[in-house]
Parts: sequence; structure tokens; C-alpha cells
Amino acid sequence: MNTIQIDPGLTEEQRRKQIYKGQIMVLSPTPGSLQLCAFARELLVQGFGGLDPQKAHETLPVEKYAEILAVVKPKFIHHPESKRLLRVIAAETGHDLANTYLDTPRLRSAAPHDYLRFGIAYAFHPHRDTWYSAPFAQVNWWMPVYEFESGNSMAFHPRYWDKPVRNSSRNYNYQDWNEGPRQNAAAHIKSDTREQPKPEEEVEMEPQLRIVCPVGGIILFSGAQLHSTVPNATGTTRFSIDFRSVNIEDVRSGRGAHNIDSQCSGTAMVDYMRGLDMTPMPDELIIKHLAPGYKEKTLGTQEKIKAT
Ligand SMILES: [Fe+2]
Repeated sequence: MNTIQIDPGLTEEQRRKQIYKGQIMVLSPTPGSLQLCAFARELLVQGFGGLDPQKAHETLPVEKYAEILAVVKPKFIHHPESKRLLRVIAAETGHDLANTYLDTPRLRSAAPHDYLRFGIAYAFHPHRDTWYSAPFAQVNWWMPVYEFESGNSMAFHPRYWDKPVRNSSRNYNYQDWNEGPRQNAAAHIKSDTREQPKPEEEVEMEPQLRIVCPVGGIILFSGAQLHSTVPNATGTTRFSIDFRSVNIEDVRSGRGAHNIDSQCSGTAMVDYMRGLDMTPMPDELIIKHLAPGYKEKTLGTQEKIKAT
């Protein structure tokens, strides 16, 4: 059974263990999460040259819009202020920064209807992050940058927590993806030919679960949770921030969510940096999770992360 727990009176370790079992947690905004959202809004307003970023699709040609996002999103991802605030938020929410590794925060957008839902603003079909080489100890963090509503949110498909979905993750290798398709997200405007892990059977979209929380509120869930982008039926673009964390002791000891249907190879662990001092994940842990022959591609991929 999946439960949503709002500001539970649990330690971070207790929360994490329950997240591995399919629980979803919602935390109230923290000073750091509010600052991170304010920073994202600042970059968006700058990027859109004074237009309201949530309404810019009404006036801008889609190519121009994609061009702007192709500047703003990587700027946010790699900005030292974003990285600093991630560590602040992790500490504020009870994480031990010596054992908690964080990846970089992505700024996502979901524009209304079919305006732009590929490439730089990819609208995610139902997927588990573990189909994309995420470690099973991965915790996903999601927070809204502006007020939003159910009609432009994200959806969970909790009945699939312990029900496998036939999918194409067997064709996915994270190291290969970083070398190639990820690099040209902004070129995909009308369609997206980059092969991503997808369901190979009909996914029952109902019942689905959508959570609406205040700006800077934090939704925490396992990377093994099936989730998707809700087709935006409102007139307003949703902007959100997401990132991931892993506890290194859990990675070492193999703790994490179960694997019921992921067959990808490689590992996204190359993206994680230790909260305390931003040192990378130790090589031996990465190598353990790499596909054979990929040793030389282990490190240095952080700067390659574009907006996907
Ligand atoms: Fe995801």
C-alpha cells in the first residue's frame, strides 16, 4: 500500500526506509527551498526578458521559447547558488551531509497542451527513474517554482509499485546516453527521436495520484515509483525543480527499493556529489554498477548534464 505522509514526525533515515517501500512524503517549504524557487524565478524572468514565464508561450514562437529555455535551464543547473541551496535544503530536512550524495537540480517546464513537450521540455511518459540507470537507493525530490494546480502537475501511478510494467529499459545505458542523445535536447521541438525507456504495454493511467503543494513544498519519492508528466490542460506553464539524493551507506549495503522490471545498464551515480564537500561518489561504488567496458567513462560527467 502507498501512503502519502505530510511532514511526518520521522527521522530522515526512517523516512528513507519508508520511501524504499513505496511511501510518498510531502515536506513543507523550508527557507532554503523557498530561496531556490525564488532563484529559479529570477533566472526565468531574466531569460524571458520581462515576460511572465508562465504565460510566455502565448506570445513567443515556440522556437524562440525553446531557445530561451536552452539558456536558462543549464544556467540554473550549473549555477553555484543552486548547488549551494541544495545542500542547505538537505541539511534543513535532516540529512547527514557526510553520507548524503546529491545530483544537480533540474529546472523543468510543462507548457500548456502541445505547445512544447519535447526536447528541452520533455513531457515524461509513465516511467520509473530506475529504468534510466538510477540506483535503487535513489530518492527523488520535486518542488514547484510557482503556484500550480492538479491540471499541470505530475502524476504517480501507485498501483504499479509492485506490479511490473513491460518496458524497453533493456536498451538503455546511462553512460551511452550521456555521450550522445542528451547533448542535443534543445534541437527537439516538434518531436523527440531520442530513444528513452518506455512502457511496452498499456499503462492504466487511473487511478493516479497527484499532489498539489505550496511553492517550495517538497515531494519525496523513490526512483522506483512509476510517475509521469500530467498533460497540461491549463493555460499556465508549470515550472518545477527536481533533483535526487542517495545515502552512500545504503548504496554500499544494497539497501533500496525493489527491482521489479528495470533492465537497463550503467549507472547514474556518476552524477552524485557528497553534500558535505561536493566530492564525487567513490570510484569503487560506481565501477561496481557500470556495465562491462565502461570504466573509462566513470567521472567528469557532471558538467555534461544539460536540460533533459
Ligand atoms: Fe522521473
